[in-house]
Amino acid sequence: MCFITRVNRLVSITGQSMNDVEKRSLVRFRDWAKTYDRKTLSYLNYYLTNKAVIKHLRLPTHGSILDVGCGTGILLQQLINKPPSNIQLHGLDISPDMFDKAKRKFSATPQIKLAIGSALSMPYADDTFDCVVCCHSFHHHSDSFRSLSEMRRVVKPNGQVIVMDLSLDGFLRNIFSKIENIYGNEGHICRYGKKQINELFRMAQFKNTMQKYIYYFNLVTIGTKQ
Ligand SMILES: C[S@@+](CC[C@H](N)C(=O)[O-])C[C@H]1O[C@@H](n2cnc3c(N)ncnc32)[C@H](O)[C@@H]1O
Repeated sequence: MCFITRVNRLVSITGQSMNDVEKRSLVRFRDWAKTYDRKTLSYLNYYLTNKAVIKHLRLPTHGSILDVGCGTGILLQQLINKPPSNIQLHGLDISPDMFDKAKRKFSATPQIKLAIGSALSMPYADDTFDCVVCCHSFHHHSDSFRSLSEMRRVVKPNGQVIVMDLSLDGFLRNIFSKIENIYGNEGHICRYGKKQINELFRMAQFKNTMQKYIYYFNLVTIGTKQ
């Protein structure tokens, strides 16, 4: 299926129009989806950092977790083996190609529900999930404040929102973002420093925000909705 047809298909699925950054993300992840699970290095990177994030999750005994920008479902796969096993797991991703990979992986797992859609306008009601997680996806979102506000909207009061992403400061941040934008061709990769993410959480009205680096530059930021 050609790219334009896929974009139109997505627009008709979600009923939303997409901005240029989101369209470019689709192109990038259409290609990346083919090898995403195969590359040992990237798999190790995502697997290990996700594993560290899971340690910070307050797993509800009953309830639900949403993974925003879930990709091929690496985190969901890790969570499925975690007790308590009656948690509902949800994954949302903008890329139909990444979604297809996850869909195939979990075809026999009714506990996992997947949806195609943008983090900027999520197809969920207010106060739905006990916890919302977003790993290695935030820097792709064209409007970070809006996607963080969406995460806050869909999490229940007292629920956690956890964003984990590679975080750099100053000169390193500028250089890295430039390289990523040229290489990834998305035109918008936006890496944040620790203070900037903290400020975003404050602006989005999260309480008790805590931050911690894992595996060198990967920053975990956790906020609570009150
Ligand atoms: C580097 S992958 C990370 C996937 C997964 N979270 C993991 O840790 O393996 C980034 C994912 O974010 C998704 N993404 C990018 N922009 C998005 C947006 N605006 N809304 C939802 N998902 C988005 C991409 O399609 C891709 O699957």
